[in-house]
Amino acid sequence: MFPPLTTGYEDKDGNISSQSRAFYTRLAKGGTGYIVLRDVAPVRSFAPTPKLFDDSQIDSFRLLSDNVHTYGAKLGVQIFHPEYDVNVLNALFAAGEMQKVRTQLNHDMQYFVNEVSEDALMHIIDKMCACAVRAQKAGIDVIQVHGDRLVGALCSTQMNTRTDKFGGSLENRTRFALMLVQALKKVVPDMIIDYKLSVVTPECGKGGVDEIYAPEFAQWLEAAGVDMLHVGQANHTGNMADTIPPMGVQPYCFFADITGAVKQEVSIPVSTSGRIIDPEMGEGILQNGKADMIGIDRALLADPDWANKAGADKATDIVRCICCNEGCVDNVLNRSFIACVVNPENGFEETRFITPAEMKKNVVVRWRSCRYGSCPCGCKERS
Ligand SMILES: Cc1cc2nc3c(=O)[nH]c(=O)nc-3n(C[C@H](O)[C@H](O)[C@H](O)COP(=O)(O)O)c2cc1C
Repeated sequence: MFPPLTTGYEDKDGNISSQSRAFYTRLAKGGTGYIVLRDVAPVRSFAPTPKLFDDSQIDSFRLLSDNVHTYGAKLGVQIFHPEYDVNVLNALFAAGEMQKVRTQLNHDMQYFVNEVSEDALMHIIDKMCACAVRAQKAGIDVIQVHGDRLVGALCSTQMNTRTDKFGGSLENRTRFALMLVQALKKVVPDMIIDYKLSVVTPECGKGGVDEIYAPEFAQWLEAAGVDMLHVGQANHTGNMADTIPPMGVQPYCFFADITGAVKQEVSIPVSTSGRIIDPEMGEGILQNGKADMIGIDRALLADPDWANKAGADKATDIVRCICCNEGCVDNVLNRSFIACVVNPENGFEETRFITPAEMKKNVVVRWRSCRYGSCPCGCKERS
């Protein structure tokens, strides 16, 4: 499984660009079985994400699902709501009030989660359902509910301070999530509903359910009709390293035990992710019964043929992800598109094809010098 990952490849209006299509198709060609297209907005938003708020966008998603299906993979869309009040923002934008637009953008989820009215929440469910129907028309197989962002902020004991029926007890905080799942089940009964169960651990994250409640909440999700769960570290702290730990921050497979605790309490398939970079690691998790499916994100940027190589017993040929976060996280934060530093084709799947050299030569590889120039980390030694 390729779990949801911001790429920056989509068009500004949210349509799937040819760059995006080439990237996901390459993953499917390399043997990835289930691909989740991340953060698909069901509303016209300012967020640089894929968007599916209008029927005119269905065709670009259809092209993507057709391509991915050619290689036998399944495609999911992760539906989310942006961090702010989209209606207010669009009205301000239409009125040309750009200063107020900027202020509103900074008035983000930590406020929105507690200010959004019940009516508006119901309206958001309607929008998400309409998006799911469009996804179905586009031939997409799975709807993944993004259990971080708005849904996770509502579940959170740290972010949700509401006193209405969406705040307080665990039942109240998870009410919106369960209502959303039930509504999706009604409008797209034939689609698979995957739920990204964002878990807040004692050390990390804010937007999700606390670790101690995760197994119980998972049971409620199953009862509400969820078909599969994707267990991952919650974020919303402003610290990307919580969810996407670079080397040295978290051990390999750091979410396997938490996933295992959830899996014990449900009968639906459960996937996990978090620094799983070798087939041996994934196989260990499966053998120990901690998950049914292995999510591999950054390691698939490094080598899109990961799955086929693992299947053909060629694990030693896999180009290893070093969890440097330079070509993925740093690029996204710099408003660029992802281009993995150990895979020169990544981000350029349409145009770059690395082939064996026609004439073999001995070459000296000189590591590029540090991007900080003055080298605060001492990596001057690399050049
Ligand atoms: C550049 C980048 C962007 C990400 N964007 C999202 C996202 O939009 N939605 C989401 O649920 N997770 C997102 N994630 C988190 C991943 O789904 C995954 O949990 C995380 O990368 C850990 O898995 P890995 O160690 O296999 O990379 C992102 C990860 C990366 C590297």
